[in-house]
Amino acid sequence: MNRKDLLFYDAYEAFYTMAEKSNAFRAFCKDAFGEDFSQDGFSNIEQINMILQYIPQKDNVNILDVGCGNGKMLGYLQEKTKAYIHGFDYSEEAIKTAKFLFPYNSQFREGIIGEIDYPEEMFDVVISMDTMYFAKDIAVFVAQIKKWLKQNGVLFVGYQEGDVIPKTENVNNTTLAKALLVNGMNYEAVDITEKTYELLKTKRISAINHKNEFEAEGHGEWFNMLMGQTECVTEPFEQFKEKMARYIYVIRK
Ligand SMILES: C[S@@+](CC[C@H](N)C(=O)[O-])C[C@H]1O[C@@H](n2cnc3c(N)ncnc32)[C@H](O)[C@@H]1O
Repeated sequence: MNRKDLLFYDAYEAFYTMAEKSNAFRAFCKDAFGEDFSQDGFSNIEQINMILQYIPQKDNVNILDVGCGNGKMLGYLQEKTKAYIHGFDYSEEAIKTAKFLFPYNSQFREGIIGEIDYPEEMFDVVISMDTMYFAKDIAVFVAQIKKWLKQNGVLFVGYQEGDVIPKTENVNNTTLAKALLVNGMNYEAVDITEKTYELLKTKRISAINHKNEFEAEGHGEWFNMLMGQTECVTEPFEQFKEKMARYIYVIRK
């Protein structure tokens, strides 16, 4: 598959190029999400800190981030746990930055979800924050991740509906939940839709607070994009939750 034909490829190359250069974006991320991981989505520090409890405190721990962007989330988890970090992303720009920022005990690869492969039972934890929906077939991708996980390993997923994929009825009806069932994987899930509504409000206010810096850097179009992404919170929560949902799934092999 030619990467350039994939959904949002050019947009993500442009996004990670901007993320590397822009002080306004770094400051925005810190304000909006509590930490700068060059987020393009909804992953704040509270969600990322939830992952820490699943990373074993021992030697030879390997964790993988699917769609890792420029690796900053993995860098944070490594700092907290000393795990060996692996990440892949289809963005050449993002992987170049990740290799530069986190050169030790790490492996970053350019790769496409559903195509890239790893050895069996390699990882203690696999993380997918807002990336499952880029798989052509989520059930096939879940089967592949199951193969990569060690016995009792954990797949940690941040899963948003109403953005890339449409909203379904509830947490047990999502395409992911069905894919987990097909693959015989048990999960626990929490609904963080209301928290996400509040997060998006914070994201909108943080963007407005940094508008002048974005424009002074010549990154005004990214400010406009952030406004577009957060337009949904100009509606009351009751309306928002009809169209959007966010869940955290913790899935055991
Ligand atoms: C919504 S962003 C999430 C990034 C990061 N995980 C986060 O939570 O901030 C989606 C990420 O997946 C990558 N991506 C999108 N489609 C992909 C694909 N088909 N194969 C590999 N990576 C992909 C993008 O480059 C981007 O880094």
